[in-house]
Amino acid sequence: MKGKRIPIIAANWKMYKTISEMEEFLSQFLPLISDIEDRKVVIAPNFLCLERMVSISKGKNLITCAQNMYFEEEGAFTGEISPRMLKAIGVSWVILGHSERRHIFGEDDELIGKKVSSAVSHGMFPILCIGETLEERERGETGKVLKKQLKTGLSRLGAEGLKNVTIAYEPVWAIGTGKTASLSQIQEAHSLVREEIKKLGGEDIAEKIRILYGGSVKPDNVKGIMELEDVDGALVGGASLGVDSFIKIVKFDEN
Ligand code: PGA
Repeated sequence: MKGKRIPIIAANWKMYKTISEMEEFLSQFLPLISDIEDRKVVIAPNFLCLERMVSISKGKNLITCAQNMYFEEEGAFTGEISPRMLKAIGVSWVILGHSERRHIFGEDDELIGKKVSSAVSHGMFPILCIGETLEERERGETGKVLKKQLKTGLSRLGAEGLKNVTIAYEPVWAIGTGKTASLSQIQEAHSLVREEIKKLGGEDIAEKIRILYGGSVKPDNVKGIMELEDVDGALVGGASLGVDSFIKIVKFDEN
């Protein structure tokens, strides 16, 4: 479908699951993805689960991803985790700028831009989340908001660094609400994102970069979303917590 862009189906487990609940999930889930080769499957559990997940999933087709990190290597930053610490346990993927980080914990585009650049300079693969609130959409500001989030979030990267980045478009009003954006709203936003990437890094990178959709993705709507021209994957919250529902999303083309 999308040229050479291999789809990514990513789970954002947020603040759910203890280590033993994660182990239980993987014991059922890993056998179900053992023969999948044409897409990447990513799970982002909480920090406590990361090391164990890396070791359980070694050689098993699953990418372990962090949900956040700070941009400094080390220092007096109580409560934070650094890229160096993640790399040391074998974690190279990280979600940055998730709407809950922005809206509950007050992260702004500037801080998120520093994190994205730090991740890339440590050889990591950030998933940069962007998305408008309902008020911004109703005021007709969706395009303006997405452009600003992209521009500031990616401003410290050169074209080379952009190659490591995945974008997740997640309209804030669709996250955890059961309200998915319509297919035309999704395609419109994704094509705008790709245009902006083209301006920032050129045509070649814009063709290669993956843009995921997130916001109430479920087994019964994932197929239509994945068929859209500029959608290269999904970032899934609630529906990724159960094996039955997440495997249906991973195997979206078999539904
Ligand atoms: P949701 O969450 O699928 O529960 O809407 C998506 C996300 O927050 O990444």
